[in-house]
Amino acid sequence: MLTDMLNRPLLDLRISVTDRCNFRCTYCMPADEGQKYCFMKRSELMTFEEIVRLAKLFVSLGVRKIRLTGGEPLLRKDIDQLVGMLDNIEGLEDLSMTTNGFLLKRYAASLKKAGLKRINVSLDALDDEVFAAINGVGAKSSRILEGMDEAVRQGMKVKVNMVVKRGMNDSQILPMAAYFKEKGITLRFIEFMDVGSLNGWKLDEVVTSKEIYNMISKEMPLEPLKENYYGEVAKRCRYVGTDIEVGFISSVSQPFCGDCTRCRLSADGKIYTCLFAARGTDLLSSMRNGASDEELAAQIKCVWDVRCDRYSQERGKNPTYKGKRIEMSYIGG
Ligand code: GTP
Ligand code: 5AD
Ligand code: SF4
Ligand code: SF4
Repeated sequence: MLTDMLNRPLLDLRISVTDRCNFRCTYCMPADEGQKYCFMKRSELMTFEEIVRLAKLFVSLGVRKIRLTGGEPLLRKDIDQLVGMLDNIEGLEDLSMTTNGFLLKRYAASLKKAGLKRINVSLDALDDEVFAAINGVGAKSSRILEGMDEAVRQGMKVKVNMVVKRGMNDSQILPMAAYFKEKGITLRFIEFMDVGSLNGWKLDEVVTSKEIYNMISKEMPLEPLKENYYGEVAKRCRYVGTDIEVGFISSVSQPFCGDCTRCRLSADGKIYTCLFAARGTDLLSSMRNGASDEELAAQIKCVWDVRCDRYSQERGKNPTYKGKRIEMSYIGG
């Protein structure tokens, strides 16, 4: 098992399969910054074979969980085939995906058939006016909810991610909590993060997990639960008297860098050791230049050996940091 400078093992790999998205969420890829987006060319994207080769190497180095992300991963052609190829990797314990759900109704059956057992779906509001103002393309919440229903019907475990930003969708916290409690689906509230450089992040727009917890528990009492696995991103709670859960992802108010076991692989084959990293290490060029598995493994090991990122924990020391950073849509959160 590889460990970094802060003794954190490499256990998870988040693979972005495309940097494109059919949404323009204001906190991620704001539409009015459109001229700044410069998407990867097809030839720059890793092929499925290249992705699987790297995934196998990562598993041989200790990775146990793989998550497919984007941009929007369901925009990648034949994504179900990739799921099937990854699901066959021996030693991989958990394969999942994070999607905006817009195309989920169409793809749920083939994803399940290919081996996907669980999926995290982003939805920031039930109210269509609020949701359309966030997603930037006029998508309706009913379409995302139908996608989730279909995924559940196919037998997948579904969790919902809701990014909360003050003045944007705090009005939706209680309606979302009540709706997903009724459905028995886990809803996770995510603090608005200062990822990338285009979303105009301000600290006073962050609604903290504590505020959200207090708001919900006044109406529907909550109790804390123990973590599911080492380094789980979300703090879990359940509604008292039920086994229905909610989660809180508090990367601003309670950073979780101390047990961050995640490596990120961009669609163009670079690895990043932090969501807030400025630079990645190009594995795809090495692969295309003929590197052996041993050479690639050595390259990954070199990167992890010297890893000391803990951006969220250090944010407090430099809250207005404006240096170069990758965008969320490039690295998939
Ligand atoms: P599970 O395996 O279901 O627990 O998934 P997950 O919560 O690890 O993944 P998901 O893609 O659903 O992430 C939910 C939110 O947590 C997103 O907003 C991510 O950007 C954020 N997140 C995940 N990992 C990290 C991390 O290492 N650092 C920070 N700061 N945020 C993260
Ligand atoms: N802050 C918090 N979460 C974000 N996401 C995208 N941008 C941000 C941000 N600035 C979330 C998406 C999705 C996950 C991959 O990351 O909504 O749920
Ligand atoms: Fe929204 Fe996710 Fe697309 Fe970013 S990548 S614009 S968060 S749907
Ligand atoms: Fe990991 Fe970086 Fe997120 Fe901290 S800020 S939890 S080190 S990805």
